Amino acid sequence: MASVEVLLGSVDQIPKGEGRTFRVADREIAVFLTAEGEVYATQAFCPHRRGPLADGLLGGTVLMCPLHDRTFDLKSGCGTSHEQLGLATYPARVSEGQIWLRPEPTLAREAAE
Ligand code: FES
Repeated sequence: MASVEVLLGSVDQIPKGEGRTFRVADREIAVFLTAEGEVYATQAFCPHRRGPLADGLLGGTVLMCPLHDRTFDLKSGCGTSHEQLGLATYPARVSEGQIWLRPEPTLAREAAE
């Protein structure tokens, strides 16, 4: 059964270029707001050694884990520095200044090329 969207609240609670961790449906999810105003959501902890991804450095849609600098593309969840590591991503959108998230993870594909 498809999950319903969950309202996370105002997009203003996330500064542009940063992330915040939310607890949704018994799991922690990192939600990011890019400098361009797009939102993306991923698993909260790095698959390497559980670094807190919401504290990572965001450049465009590429996130750098705060612990050991591995990078991930927020759009696909794919690792861009260590391709064997990928993130679960969640559909997220902003509507009328509010963040909506579907707590239904998509696992990153293996890097194809
Ligand atoms: S915990 Fe993220 S790169 Fe090591």
